[in-house]
Amino acid sequence: MTDPRSFHDQAVASFYHLGPADAVLPEMLPDVLTGRCCRGLACFAARQDDPQRWQQACSTAPALYCLGQCYAGPAQAGTDTRPTAHVFARESVLLANAVRGGVRDLPAYLAQGGGKALRAALQSTPSAILETVAASGLRGRGGAGFPTGRKWRAVADAINKTKYIVANADEGDPGAFSDRVLIETDPFRLIEAMLIAAISVGATQGFIYLRREYETAARVLARAIEQARAARWLGGHVLDSAYTFDLELVIGAGSYLCGEETAMLNAIEGRRPEVRLRPPQITECGLFDRPTLVNNVETLCAIPWIIKHGGEAYRQLGTADNAGTKLLSLNSLFVKPGVYEVEFGISVREIIDVLGGGLRRGHLKGVMIGGPLAGIIPPPLFDTPLTHEALHAIGCAVGHGGVIAFADDTSIAEIVAEVFRFGATESCDKCTPCHLGTQEISQAFNTGKPMTAQRWRDLVDALAATSLCGHGRGLAEFALAIETHYGEELCACLA
Ligand SMILES: Cc1cc2nc3c(=O)[nH]c(=O)nc-3n(C[C@H](O)[C@H](O)[C@H](O)COP(=O)(O)O)c2cc1C
Ligand code: SF4
Repeated sequence: MTDPRSFHDQAVASFYHLGPADAVLPEMLPDVLTGRCCRGLACFAARQDDPQRWQQACSTAPALYCLGQCYAGPAQAGTDTRPTAHVFARESVLLANAVRGGVRDLPAYLAQGGGKALRAALQSTPSAILETVAASGLRGRGGAGFPTGRKWRAVADAINKTKYIVANADEGDPGAFSDRVLIETDPFRLIEAMLIAAISVGATQGFIYLRREYETAARVLARAIEQARAARWLGGHVLDSAYTFDLELVIGAGSYLCGEETAMLNAIEGRRPEVRLRPPQITECGLFDRPTLVNNVETLCAIPWIIKHGGEAYRQLGTADNAGTKLLSLNSLFVKPGVYEVEFGISVREIIDVLGGGLRRGHLKGVMIGGPLAGIIPPPLFDTPLTHEALHAIGCAVGHGGVIAFADDTSIAEIVAEVFRFGATESCDKCTPCHLGTQEISQAFNTGKPMTAQRWRDLVDALAATSLCGHGRGLAEFALAIETHYGEELCACLA
């Protein structure tokens, strides 16, 4: 009889594109990337700049989404350069150390003022920290913009005594590389933030879930965790206090969906990383059925600044409902690609013209902010400010802040084909419209055999109404925004 355990292992392994998710040290990762080319959307937008490399990306199975080298697309693993980092805000909350060229050692981090927020938190109380985070108005940077203070409070108030915190470093949205920059240039900021979060919610164990494609980030983080442990930031009696906290780095195995928080928890537990049903919310019943705080890397990295300067100071940045700064990743079609720290409220036009310096070639067809689960903003709407509400009102999203410019050498049919190919490849296949509907749209647009307008309508409606998670719903939002802003071009591709 076959060992049922091997069925389980096969079911888990078959989910991933880059081999089984075995627990290995970063320096022992098998070489599954070298030479492979990225099929992410930013590389697609830049495909005319190196058609041969793009061809290679298209002929590789399974497709590689995405290397986080969108500033140099079309990208190939092993040919990486570090993106430039710029601050375009009154205060730098996030990128100060990145702009200095990076601070990867603990003594250097401390010399730049790092660690002060942790010491302040250790001398404060959990409820005072929770109040400061709530007062800051910080909202999650992983996409949904959920108020961070409310999430932390829910985990702090959960009854179970064993609690976990998880940093979501999966950064799956093609077009975004800002978490990668934060981790590679300032790893102790993330560790310090996780310690502060642990103190305030009462967690003793944390995990950082990092995407497999970020090998340099994996090495930098593993080394930083070792240094933090040696300096007694981690372990029992953190810096001689009564707190205990330890941290584990978990490296993915190639799956966009593992960025969705419940799928990610399944991945950390070694299960097949499908999306979990809610309720219960993970703040009550998350990792190993315990209350769990999941935050994006950028969200967490704002915490040391907030603790040092106060919630009110943070609220002074950005707009009334969208406090603080946001990182934007500008792709290679801009004259000045790279990662930018901006205040919320900046207009899309300023992002394109002032930060990006306009388009390097051709005419701008539109910009996609926030990844493939968001709409494309057309030129007539470039005065829209960067806030969750303003972008939502035009069918678009802040998302994770990847900014992909599309030039007029790319048609709407090609963009729909590529987004739905990605959507179908990365679906966890749990919901029928997401499993089969995305494939049908992808096939119709990739083979040039048009579907009827009614069939398109039915599939998009089903995706919007019945998807269990933001993957299917986001693809529907993308489709609806294309209908709204590029309706004429879309209609011309439908039968
Ligand atoms: C399909 C899908 C992919 C996601 N990928 C990511 C990701 O790569 N990184 C991330 O931080 N959040 C991602 N999210 C959002 C997470 O589920 C979760 O909301 C987020 O990590 C919470 O952190 P925050 O409150 O700090 O934003 C994804 C969501 C969906 C539906
Ligand atoms: S919407 Fe798609 S990715 Fe999300 S749970 Fe359903 S099948 Fe899985």
